[in-house]
Amino acid sequence: MQRILVTGGAGFIGCNFVHYIMGHSSLHVTVLDKLTYAGNIESLEGLPGTRFEFVKGDICDAELVDGLTSDVDAVVHFAAESHNDNSLQDPRPFVDTNLVGTYTLIEAARRHGTRFHHVSTDEVYGDLALDDPARFTEDSVYRPTSPYSATKAGSDLLVRAWVRSFGLRATISNCSNNYGPYQHVEKFIPRQITNILDGIRPRLYGEGRNVRDWIHVEDHSSAVAAILEHGKPGETYLIGADGELSNRTVVEKLLVLMGKSPDAYDLVTDRPGHDLRYAIDSAKLRRELGWAPRYSDFDAGLVATVRWYQEHESWWRPQKAGTELKYAGQGH
Ligand code: NAD
Ligand code: TYD
Repeated sequence: MQRILVTGGAGFIGCNFVHYIMGHSSLHVTVLDKLTYAGNIESLEGLPGTRFEFVKGDICDAELVDGLTSDVDAVVHFAAESHNDNSLQDPRPFVDTNLVGTYTLIEAARRHGTRFHHVSTDEVYGDLALDDPARFTEDSVYRPTSPYSATKAGSDLLVRAWVRSFGLRATISNCSNNYGPYQHVEKFIPRQITNILDGIRPRLYGEGRNVRDWIHVEDHSSAVAAILEHGKPGETYLIGADGELSNRTVVEKLLVLMGKSPDAYDLVTDRPGHDLRYAIDSAKLRRELGWAPRYSDFDAGLVATVRWYQEHESWWRPQKAGTELKYAGQGH
């Protein structure tokens, strides 16, 4: 493998993956990204120019996608509309990008016989009860609950059908909640970090009891790289780092870390249909591909993430006021 196309490479996980894979291989990387509100070209600064190319465009543009796909050995597909709260306000872009965009890419990959990796989420499996000892596995039933997770589930099923019906050489990964540098301030952890930096009290939806299974974004990148290299076409791999925590616990940790009282947060209107708990069993990935997370210490990862936002205000500041205005309109 010499050349790959990375869709959504100007977004949070995509840009972290591009930095990771270019630092750990000699691959040539082309990024295709529409630069929506969530994409930021600045997140791709400092990459070796001889091995990197950026193309601004839409994954729904069949002609563009066909040309780019014909030039590469593999496509790694991160591009998506990714935020649940947005999907509850306006689902249409989720249907377009997550469903039609994925369809457009796999049709091109089918035509050119290109290896395809589809990046997805554990949210396709719905949620678990707080006291349920079970975790999601590759055999869990699809039960998406929001427009975001429903469109991601639909895109997974399209990829599976293209594998079975057309022999597409595709793998799928479903990962838990990511945190780390370059994450848009609309998402939970960077929203609270930048709120605290701005002297605003963190906002917890409902009672803050909901549980997310956190993984550092670099561990997600190393897992995708391992699947791209050693994964078996047709297989799905769950990616997680045993990082289950309630939202309340995460906010308390952030407050203490940033020198505030652990109860200096507000409870706000809950998200409609709010999934209670996600939890990943990543035994298959660890067993079959020998992958393991590097950031097993969540607190240390959180310290590094807080420091990143403290040191990169010029990156996140332009997003902040508009994001908070949008949340104010939703009662969050
Ligand atoms: P993000 O919103 O930060 O970035 C998405 C990127 O895709 C942006 O750069 C945006 O400009 C681009 N994009 C959107 N629509 C496009 C289109 N039509 N054509 C081309 N580019 C387009 O998202 P993220 O958090 O980095 O998530 C990346 C992927 O990982 C998504 O597929 C998401 O479902 C999945 N995922 C995310 C998480 C998480 O915790 N954030 C967890 C598991 C899986
Ligand atoms: P989010 O980052 O939106 O990810 P997801 O919905 O994909 O899990 O939210 C993570 C959790 O944090 C989720 O349970 C909703 C909650 N949340 C808050 O309590 N307050 C907030 O301000 C935000 C943005 C999210």
